[in-house]
Amino acid sequence: MKRVYLETWGCQMNFHDSERVLGLLRQKGYVRVDDPREADVILFNTCSIREKAEHKFLSRLGRTKGLKKRNPSLKIAVLGCIAQQSGEKLKEKAPYVDYVIGPQNINRVGEALELEEGVLTDDNPEIALSDIPAYRESTVSAWVNIMYGCNNFCSYCIVPYTRGRERSRPAENIVREIEELVKNGYKEVTLLGQNVNSYSGNVTFPELLRMVNKIEGLERIRFVTSHPKDLGPELVQAMAECEKVCEHIHLPLQSGSDRILKLMNRKYTMEQYYEKIRMLRDAIPAIAITTDIIAGFPTERDEDHQATIEALKEIEFDGIFAFKYSKRPYTRASKMDGQLPEEVKAERLNQILRLQDEITERKNKLLKNTVQEVLVEGKNDSGQYTGRTRTNKIVNINKADGLTAGQIVKVLITEPHRHSLEGRLT
Ligand code: 5AD
Ligand code: SF4
Repeated sequence: MKRVYLETWGCQMNFHDSERVLGLLRQKGYVRVDDPREADVILFNTCSIREKAEHKFLSRLGRTKGLKKRNPSLKIAVLGCIAQQSGEKLKEKAPYVDYVIGPQNINRVGEALELEEGVLTDDNPEIALSDIPAYRESTVSAWVNIMYGCNNFCSYCIVPYTRGRERSRPAENIVREIEELVKNGYKEVTLLGQNVNSYSGNVTFPELLRMVNKIEGLERIRFVTSHPKDLGPELVQAMAECEKVCEHIHLPLQSGSDRILKLMNRKYTMEQYYEKIRMLRDAIPAIAITTDIIAGFPTERDEDHQATIEALKEIEFDGIFAFKYSKRPYTRASKMDGQLPEEVKAERLNQILRLQDEITERKNKLLKNTVQEVLVEGKNDSGQYTGRTRTNKIVNINKADGLTAGQIVKVLITEPHRHSLEGRLT
C-alpha cells in the first residue's frame, strides 16, 4: 500500500483529471492522505493559464524540497499544464522533482510512477479511447470528459499547447459511463471539454445531448465550455427539447470589441454573438448565461474597453469570470506590440467587475419570493444544506433537517445575495 498526497490547481478540467488520476491509483493500491508529510508520493496537478497561477505553484513547489530531506524516498510528481509547458526543463530547475507528466498522459500515471523517474509529455491520441476510472469527490454530481484538447488557438491561450489537439471520446463510452454513474446514485452530469460544441465522436454534440437525455434516472445535464463560433440552432434546439439539460450556458465572450476579437482569433463578431444570445433566450426564456472576459489584451484602447462595458450592460450576464490579460509562452498575443501596463489592465478589470457585481445583484434580487428547484449536494461550511438551481445558482437552505444529498427540492428564495441565494423549503 502506497500513500499519495494530491493537490490540484486551476480549472474544472484539472479537478476532474485529478479524480481520474486518483481512480487509477486506487486500482493500483494507493490510498490518499491529507498530509504531505505522510505521503510516499506527492502529486501536484498544475495550471498555467495565467502567469500568476504559475508563480504561485512554483513557490509552493519550492517549499516541498524540505520534505524530501526528511524523507529521502519521497517522490514528487508534477502533472498538468505546467508539466507539459516546462517538460524536462522543470526537472533541471527543480531537481527534486521526480516525474513530469502532461495532461494528455494522465491515463499513464500508474505506469510512470513505477519507474524511478521520468518525463511524459508525448502527444497521446489514445487518451480519448481509454476509459479511465474516476474516484469522484461528489456522490451527486459527476464530471464526465467527452473530449480532450483544443484546436482553436485563441491568440492569448496556452491550452492548445498544453492539452494538445482535440480528441473526442466515442459516444457509446460516454453513455456507458453515465449509465454506470446513475446506477451508483448520481443525479447530475457535467459533460466536459475545452470546446464541447465541436465534439465529433461518431455523433454530433446535439445528438450526444439527446442520447444522454434518454438515460433513465439521470435528472440533470450540464456542459462546459461552449465556443460561440460553434453554437448553432441544432444545439439550441436540443437544449430546449431535452428536459434534463439545464437552463444554463457558459459562453465566453472575452471582449466586446470586434477589433480585439479579431486579434484574439475568436472567429465571431459582436453581431454574431448577439445573434446567439437572442437565439438562446428565444428558445429557452429561463436560461442563465455566464461568460469569461479578458481585460487589457494587447493594443486594447479605451474605446475597445468601453465596447466591453457596453456589451456587459446590454447582455446582462448572470455571472462572469474576468481576468487581466496575461502573457503566455508560445502564444501569438505574447509577441504582439502594444502590451499594456499592469495598472491599465487592473483599472479596466476593476471597472468590469464592479459593473458586473451590480448586474448580478440586481438579477439575483429578482429571484426573491420565487420558488426554485434545487438539487441538494450536501452541507456547506456553516452547516446549511446547499445545492444549485437548474440555472446553476448556489442556494443555501435554512432549517432543512433530514434532507439528503441527491434529493431535488423546491425552495422559496427569501434572501438573494450576490454570489448565492438563501431560502427555505416550501
Ligand atoms: N490571460 C488572461 N486570461 C486568459 N484566459 C485564457 N488565457 C488567458 C490569458 N493569457 C481566460 C479566458 C478563458 C478562461 C478559461 O481563461 O477568458 O475563457
Ligand atoms: Fe483556450 Fe480558446 Fe481553446 Fe478556450 S477555445 S481553451 S480560450 S484556445
